[in-house]
Order: sequence, then C-alpha cells, then structure tokens
Amino acid sequence: MCGIFGIVTQTEQNLGPILVEAARRLTYRGYDSVGAATIKNGVIDLRKDKGRVDEVAEKYKIAEMTGQRGMIQLRWATFGVPSKENSQPHLDSEGKMVGAHNGNVVNNVELREQFMAEGMTVRSQNDGESCVHAVERYVRQGKDMVTAIRMAYDDLQGDYAFVIGLADDDKLYAIKKGSGLVVGIGEGFTCVSSDLPSILPLTRKVIRLNDGDVVTLSADEVALHAVADGSFIAREPEMITDEMSSVQKGGYAHFMLKEIHEQPAVARELLHLLKNNAELPAILGAIRNARNVYLVGCGTSYHACLMGSVYFSQLGARTTIPVLAPQFVPQYLPGANNQDVAFFVSQSGETRDVLKALDAARAVGVTCFSMANVIGSTLTRTTAAWLPLTCGYEISVPATKTFTNQVITFLYLATCLGGKDLTNLMALPELMEKTIAETDPVARELADSINPWQDCYSLGYGATYAIALEGALKLKEVTYAHCEGMLSTEFKHGPLSAVTPGFPVLFSAGKDDVDVIVSGMNEVTCREGRAIAIGAEDSRLRANATDLVTIPASDAMSTPILETIPLQLLSYYMAVGRGYDPDFPRNLSKTLTVD
Ligand code: M6R
Repeated sequence: MCGIFGIVTQTEQNLGPILVEAARRLTYRGYDSVGAATIKNGVIDLRKDKGRVDEVAEKYKIAEMTGQRGMIQLRWATFGVPSKENSQPHLDSEGKMVGAHNGNVVNNVELREQFMAEGMTVRSQNDGESCVHAVERYVRQGKDMVTAIRMAYDDLQGDYAFVIGLADDDKLYAIKKGSGLVVGIGEGFTCVSSDLPSILPLTRKVIRLNDGDVVTLSADEVALHAVADGSFIAREPEMITDEMSSVQKGGYAHFMLKEIHEQPAVARELLHLLKNNAELPAILGAIRNARNVYLVGCGTSYHACLMGSVYFSQLGARTTIPVLAPQFVPQYLPGANNQDVAFFVSQSGETRDVLKALDAARAVGVTCFSMANVIGSTLTRTTAAWLPLTCGYEISVPATKTFTNQVITFLYLATCLGGKDLTNLMALPELMEKTIAETDPVARELADSINPWQDCYSLGYGATYAIALEGALKLKEVTYAHCEGMLSTEFKHGPLSAVTPGFPVLFSAGKDDVDVIVSGMNEVTCREGRAIAIGAEDSRLRANATDLVTIPASDAMSTPILETIPLQLLSYYMAVGRGYDPDFPRNLSKTLTVD
C-alpha cells in the first residue's frame, strides 16, 4: 500500500540506482505508479508516471538521476486514478519543495479546496500532494521545516507517513502518523523508508519511528522531535540481524512459490518458539476465564480466525467468536467489556480495519492480544501481549506461510487450553514437507485443466470449511477467475445450478467428514460436473471423486493445514499458466492501511 524511500548523502552523486533498487524492494506492498525526485544544486529533478518500477525507471532514466538528496515513491491509487499527475512525489506551488507520502489523508478533498483558495497551485487529486501543501502553508509563514510539519500534522487527518525536502537545504524531513516508517543510518548517509527491505541492503543500523515522531535526516545524523511540543526525542538505533536471503527469491520463479515451500521450516521454527514462549500461560489463562473471546482479522487472517475457532471448540471446549474486523464495532462492541478477550490476527500488523477494531476494543477495556508477522508493527506494540508468526519476510501479496503459521498458532493454543497431547502437532512440519513434494506435480497438472474455466467453487465442511474459503480467496486473488468458497452442504441450496459438464468444484475433505463430502461430490458428478477432492487416501473419495489430490494421512486437526498447501499450489500454477505475476496481483496491496 504505497511505499516511500528517501536518502540524504554528504555529496552530490548518482542516486538513481539506489532509488530504483529501494523501489523494487517495496513493490511487495502493491502499487500502480512510480516516481522519483532528486535535489541537486538547489534544483529539484522530478520524474514520475503510472506503471511498473522497471518500465517507469527505463522510460524516465531514473537510474541516471543525481543529487545530494533523493526520494522515490510507489503509489497505490486511493485519491485519483493512476496517472502521471497523480503519481508521487509532488511539488509545492513554486517547485521549491518536494514530498511523497504513504497512507490516506481522509480530508484531502476539503484541504485541496483550502489550498486553492489560499492561492497555492494544486496539480493533482492525490492526497500526497496535500501533505506537501500542508507544509507549504506554514513555510510560507516563515516557519522552519520541523515546525511547519508539526503544524501540518494538525491539518492532515488520517493515517500516513511522508518524506519532504526543500530545494534550498541539505536535509530531508519525515513524519509518521499511523503508517510504517523506519530510519536507516549508514556511513555518510541516512535514509528513511516505509519498511526494512529497502533499507537493509544499505545499512543494518535502524531506528523504528513511533506515531508522532518528526525526523530530520542529515547526511551524518538524524534528529527526532515530538510532533506534540517539538521536544527532542532521544532514541538509540538498533542493529537488524535478519538474513537478507529471506527477502530474495532463492532460485524460485516467484516469491509465492518460495514462500509456499518455506512453510515446513517456518512452522518448525514457530513450534519451537511457542514451546518456550513466556506469554502463553497468561494468554491461555485470559482465554480460559474470559466471558467472550473474539478472534479478529481480515482476508486470509480472518480465515485463520475461523480455523482457530474450530480448534478452540474441538480441543479446548471453548467457544470463540470469529469476527471480520470491520464488523467488530457494529456487531460486538455494544456488548463488549473488560471481561472479554480479543485476539487480533494479522500478517502485517498494520491493517487499518484491524487496528480500528483494536482501538475500539481497548477503549471499552477488552483484554487484547495479537499475532502478527511484522515485528515492531503497530499491532505488536499496542496489544497486551503478542505472538510472533516467525515467518521472516512474506513478500508475495498472497499470504501463504503466514496463514499456515497463524493456524498452527491457534492449534497450539487450543491444544494447550484443552490439556491435550502435542505429539501430532510436532509432527506437522514433516507432513507439510511431504505434502508439498507429493501435491506439487498434481497441482501443476490440475491447473492446466481448470484454467479454461472462469468460474469454480471451493467447498469444505466442519474443520475444512475455513480452508475452502482460503483456497477460494487465494485462487481469486492470483488468477482473476471467480472462485467462491462455501460450506459444502450449502452448495445444493442454490449454487448447484451453476454446474454444467466439466464444471470444476474443489472439495476439501476432512478426516471425519468424508461421507458428507462424498454426498456433495455426487450432487456435482451426477450433473456431469467435475468433483476434485483434496484429502487423505480414502476408498470413498477415490470411488466418487473425478480427481483426487491425496495428502498424507494425519489427525483430523492437522488435515486442514495440509490441505491448504495443494490449494495454494493450484492457485499459483493457474496464475502462472494464465501469464499473471502471482506475487503482485493487479489492484492489490500487501499492507492495507486504508479504510
Ligand atoms: O496483514 P493482514 O494479515 O492483516 O492482511 C489482511 C488481508 O489483507 C490479507 O490477508 C489478504 O487477504 C491476503 N493478501 C490474501 O492472500
């Protein structure tokens, strides 16, 4: 969801290659436009357009740009269509200041009218431009940049981060309010970015910013001030030790495939860490004693909540309520109080819908926990305790390894809550390895035969219901085909009419629910539809399915996790077969920091 990067160096130099590489490393967030600005001898060089990083970089020769300061931005359209004008960075009225943002300025339309009425030149519909004019407004009054940014902060409503610089200066400035922002400190330069992957190739010394931090970047130092009163903030940098290999493709054609293959390893790591996690007793105690337990997330993370709710019931005899985050306030908040617990689930830890639900829950005294993958994300810093998903970077927009680790975390919690044996769970990573090896070639073949269809269904029952929904979401997300996920028994209540000869319907078969699944499959096959079963070897499935994708035999609670893998692989191979890039599906963003 947009990404910004800015750098300040000691001397004028060829900053273009650094900016292009930084942009490439932010592409996982999703974008439709690219723009760069450098500042040299008091002159701003601005080049931008809609399109992919490599296209725009080549067309505008961004790699040749030079300067003592530079910034690059990837835009994901919210205010204004993807176009050259709406691309970022933006200039102020006189072309003496340049800035770019990430996030959402919700009062953008009102602000643009004010700026125009005040005589400023507004060139786009984009809210990033409003950040620049909001600062310009106070610079025109003679304020210094830090003061002007602090005053602009009061005018700009919403969640955002921006980087900005004056032509006639040698610094850049940035502020964080809601959207992620990290500072990097290197030898003879400092930089700022929405996320670490664009900083780590340059330096491992970083300062994570908090909301309300205003940062001044000079070539050899950074200074932090509080937006509220301008007071100086002392914060020590930290050294990042994560391996960079985790943000490279490592021989795979796409990050999505690499991340699917990483699942056994990250699951192993997760289980190891969960065993020694000091927060667990308190979390389990709170879940046990709570009046209501809400499991809150969006998209794939919501599907993990659905799965978690089944696990808590089956293994811990604990009823929990899975909630799509934006529904928390209208549906549950009126009845929520300090006797309740809410578990917020997110890969990024920055999803706006989730953070809004969190704020509302905290305000009425609900005890809030979270699981997230991005260390230091807002969710991890604002909940009473958080469980890391330990997946390393997940670059591909479709969530894969973070989903399985979310589900495994819930399975672990529910198993502990019910005082059950963990042996099966500990064996899961090995079964996941086997599943990948055995189902990859089958998924590849299936993909070719399903690809001519633009519609299909993904059905599950009981413990596999959430997996069917997740399979459908993954398929839609990367293939642009329509795939609806539902409870298998609901299919006969309407959607069955879609079945024509060869029409593909995927069935995720739970270990204890084979008979129900078989009956659903027969409703499809007797109308000449194609019933594709995913499940452990079973004579009933083999006899009734048109195709059977076999996964290794396992216990009933592990089966859904294993079945996720062929569904991910199927989506991946279908997308590749259609000529789409599964890592960066059109219109989507990895981190959704807007309403
Ligand atoms: O970062 P989050 O887990 O909070 O993101 C929530 C959804 O946007 C996300 O799971 C989305 O559905 C995935 N891209 C699907 O693969």
